[in-house]
Amino acid sequence: MKIKTAEFLMSNTRWKECPKPTMPEYAFIGRSNVGKSSLINMLCDNKKLAKTSSTPGKTQLINHFLINESWLLCDLPGYGYAKVSKRDREDWRKMIRQYLFNRENLMNVFVLLDSRVKPQQIDVEFMMDLGENEIPFSIIFTKADKLKPKDLTKNIKAYKEEILMHWEELPPNFITSSEKKKGKEELLAYIDEINAVY
Ligand code: GTP
Ligand code: MG
Repeated sequence: MKIKTAEFLMSNTRWKECPKPTMPEYAFIGRSNVGKSSLINMLCDNKKLAKTSSTPGKTQLINHFLINESWLLCDLPGYGYAKVSKRDREDWRKMIRQYLFNRENLMNVFVLLDSRVKPQQIDVEFMMDLGENEIPFSIIFTKADKLKPKDLTKNIKAYKEEILMHWEELPPNFITSSEKKKGKEELLAYIDEINAVY
């Protein structure tokens, strides 16, 4: 699939105010700064589409983008940023869970994991929550350009082993770098396949 058009639609805090759920939708979630917004921009070949920053906590709202006039991408704020107050963290949790559990056109949630680090409990817990609530998800390892192939292989292996302690099989997973445009074709082909059965 080629992305011909990508446009920002709107930002929300409430799932009920999101765009009409008439098209298949894909959400990107993960720890703050893991590279969600950058990945969306890489997929859409537009560096200015989703706002990115080297400071964690850039994305604060539920942001919708219309792709090829036929499906939706959703950029979500990240979790796990240490400087966030307990109150804000709880607000985030409520906003995201409401969105994830009620969004009827949500086809798949992409959980982004930083390929530079060891398995993180917060990510595993988040995936467990999705699993327990029967929300389909896939995994995207980000920032693959930042480490040597050997270390990349080692970290991804550790993550896969951790996931297999909780699930019988691995969800679909992708290794990406927004910097090097790695994983773009695979991800778009995967979305295309799901769109075909919508
Ligand atoms: P929040 O919205 O704050 O939750 O962050 P996010 O997950 O949307 O991350 P964002 O896309 O804003 O990227 C965070 C930082 O990581 C930025 O400085 C990006 O340039 C950098 N970054 C993202 N993806 C990559 C990548 O594939 N490679 C490298 N080298 N840097 C990346
Ligand atoms: Mg962001």
